[in-house]
Amino acid sequence: MTKPWNFETAGETVFGAGTLEQIGSLCKSHNWHRALVVSDSNLLALDMVDRVCENLQSECVDAFSFTETEAEPSVETAAAAVSVSESFGPDVVIGLGGGSNMDLAKVVATVLSCGGTASDYFGFDRVPHAILPLICVPTTAGTGSEVSHSAVLTDREAAMKESMQSRFLRPRIALIDPALALSCPRQVTAESGIDALVHAIEAYTAIDAAEMPDGNAYSGRTPITNALCEQAIALIGKYLVRAVEVADDLEAREGMASAALLAGMAFSNAGVAVVHALEYPLGGTLHCSHGGGNGMLLPYVMRFNLQVRKEAFARIAVLLGENVSGMDEGDAAERGIVAVENMRGRIGIPSSVRQLGGRKDQLRGFAEKAFAVKRLIHVNPRPVTLSDLQSILQSAF
Ligand SMILES: NC(=O)c1ccc[n+]([C@@H]2O[C@H](COP(=O)([O-])OP(=O)(O)OC[C@H]3O[C@@H](n4cnc5c(N)ncnc54)[C@H](O)[C@@H]3O)[C@@H](O)[C@H]2O)c1
Ligand SMILES: [Zn+2]
Repeated sequence: MTKPWNFETAGETVFGAGTLEQIGSLCKSHNWHRALVVSDSNLLALDMVDRVCENLQSECVDAFSFTETEAEPSVETAAAAVSVSESFGPDVVIGLGGGSNMDLAKVVATVLSCGGTASDYFGFDRVPHAILPLICVPTTAGTGSEVSHSAVLTDREAAMKESMQSRFLRPRIALIDPALALSCPRQVTAESGIDALVHAIEAYTAIDAAEMPDGNAYSGRTPITNALCEQAIALIGKYLVRAVEVADDLEAREGMASAALLAGMAFSNAGVAVVHALEYPLGGTLHCSHGGGNGMLLPYVMRFNLQVRKEAFARIAVLLGENVSGMDEGDAAERGIVAVENMRGRIGIPSSVRQLGGRKDQLRGFAEKAFAVKRLIHVNPRPVTLSDLQSILQSAF
């Protein structure tokens, strides 16, 4: 008899080029009349914020926008967003942007609904009750925050990324219009895209649901998450390089938007592991992007996990389009890692801690902070010690 597991995602998913134009009617049909739009100055300059607000107003939904934020937003920015939007009294919160803005929208909805400050809710299952309904509209293809149960902020003081996970953070609606990512600069496409690959590979190689300790933020891999990951990895193999190299290729943007969505559904259930644990202190200290740090680390962590996940890595090779016929499982698995390294190189993601600006004397501190993020360490298929983390970072240096 298998151990029971469950699977959760966003309440409703709307997908397709042009679907942004449905945002007002969606709010109206749910009887939401006051929408807080959380976005940023780049998307304001690209007219996306006005498009959303005008569409809302055309359906008699009042709109108020907050755009004074930054990529990888801080705890302080979250506090500012709450204090500016509190008096508006929204009945729905819309996160328009990459993972940074969607996560900020989740945090603002949480604090407006439950009081206190963002840091009260860091960790798993700290949000006490349902929050304002969320609509997440991704403008990058990568994070999967549009369906996930987490939100990440930067704690500048601790030089660490901090996150909260709660079923109440799952958006009520994920509205995915792949055309919105056409304006992404090359580097944003590459960094967010490789983050989706990290999500899919870490979820695909996570420990099985039957082995997951009770009360963790994640359930371990299940038949549903495995199916989602396989499809996500195949789509990334087909479309990521194309989306980076040909900025106006809508088919590639659609493929990557699907991949990010599927990987988000998978990882927010199965879990992510050592790549993400190591990225938290790296990103918090070196201020690299989440995708840049994760993409750099991925092949090094795969090498560490190789001995316990040969079959999965061999399958990843095939999903990424490698010809492994005639190879034994070990060689095919190694080919899976090389395929990820090659993709990382082709889209211009750094391949070492040094390239991200890190110093050798920082590695031990990074390893210690990562080791403390037990909910991620527990998901890794091979048991990990502090000295393992140091060795991974040494090899990545
Ligand atoms: N909640 C989750 O489940 C989850 C998962 C993974 C990552 N994250 C978080 O998401 C953040 C990273 O998100 P991201 O990779 O989407 O990048 P991002 O949201 O940080 O955006 C990067 C930059 O791209 C710009 N941008 C976004 N869309 C654009 C567009 N269509 N055209 C032009 N410019 C655009 C933004 O203004 C920003 O300057 C990190 O903080 C990370 O920790 C959250
Ligand atoms: Zn990620």
